[in-house]
Amino acid sequence: MKDLLVDCDPGHDDAMALLLALASDRVDLTAVTTVAGNQTIEKTTRNACRVLTLADRTDVPVARGMGAPLVRDQVTAGWVHGESGLDGADLPEPGTEPIERHAVETIVETAAESGALHIGPVGPLTNVAVALRKHPDVVDDIERIVLMGGTTGDGNVTPAAEFNVFADPEAAKVVFEADVDVTMVGLNVTRKARLDRDHVTRIRELNTEVTTVVADLLTYFLDVHEASFERDGVPIHDACAVAEVVDPGILDTEYTFATVETRGESTYGRTVADVRGVNDEWPNVEAPNTHVALDIDTEAFVETFLEALETY
Ligand code: BDR
Ligand code: CA
Repeated sequence: MKDLLVDCDPGHDDAMALLLALASDRVDLTAVTTVAGNQTIEKTTRNACRVLTLADRTDVPVARGMGAPLVRDQVTAGWVHGESGLDGADLPEPGTEPIERHAVETIVETAAESGALHIGPVGPLTNVAVALRKHPDVVDDIERIVLMGGTTGDGNVTPAAEFNVFADPEAAKVVFEADVDVTMVGLNVTRKARLDRDHVTRIRELNTEVTTVVADLLTYFLDVHEASFERDGVPIHDACAVAEVVDPGILDTEYTFATVETRGESTYGRTVADVRGVNDEWPNVEAPNTHVALDIDTEAFVETFLEALETY
């Protein structure tokens, strides 16, 4: 059993990632930490508590984290996730409250207790960066960070940048460049892992409280995406990162150099990943530091996700 801490900003796909982690018998979701991102920290924290209440797992501690990025002005994604951050479904009122301890300290203490913690950051990387900077020795207790963020291709908030990295580029840079095992699960991969309306019908037919909420959330998410980004199903970005922890090998990755652009005018928040091995050809060699996901076994992902929902 692996210890997993999910750092999140729920968020429709964050909710799916949490439900996937909670359903797995291969990971123990030891803590949930929240960060401002898709919505304000008040809303993302409340939403994390509501998702755990829905899953009847209020035993999992929720720790509230950073309410603003390190350097840039805050951006949120209400246009995708709605005013509440989880629009489109009737989630229960929170049956649990955040613990007193801050998310940053919770990351460090959960890692120390585990000795081999997996961290799944699926929001802006503010909490994780502060934990790494404030307590550098935490890396000794982290087995692996599998983050949803960045892209090797087109962005979704600017042509260059993906939302989680764009929302706190300086924090993301700290995480990519830390001395820790990092896997980047970017839009180039998560856009392949889509659920369509047939999948939603199958989920709705499971006819439980949890699956009805999931079907409602996915319907909202599908509507938003079809109106703007995607025509052929909706990507469940954050669940892809958790799926790699639950089912390692579901991703194809390449170990290479990756970092974040923090000074570009049009490229602020772009992940720069050397997937073509340019650094090998030229003298300005940058050492590999990140497992960059290049592909995902989409069928296995969808099956893992649907099987997880059947447990509720
Ligand atoms: C990421 O941005 C957020 O809106 C989603 O929850 C996901 O973590 C996708 O770019
Ligand atoms: Ca997210």
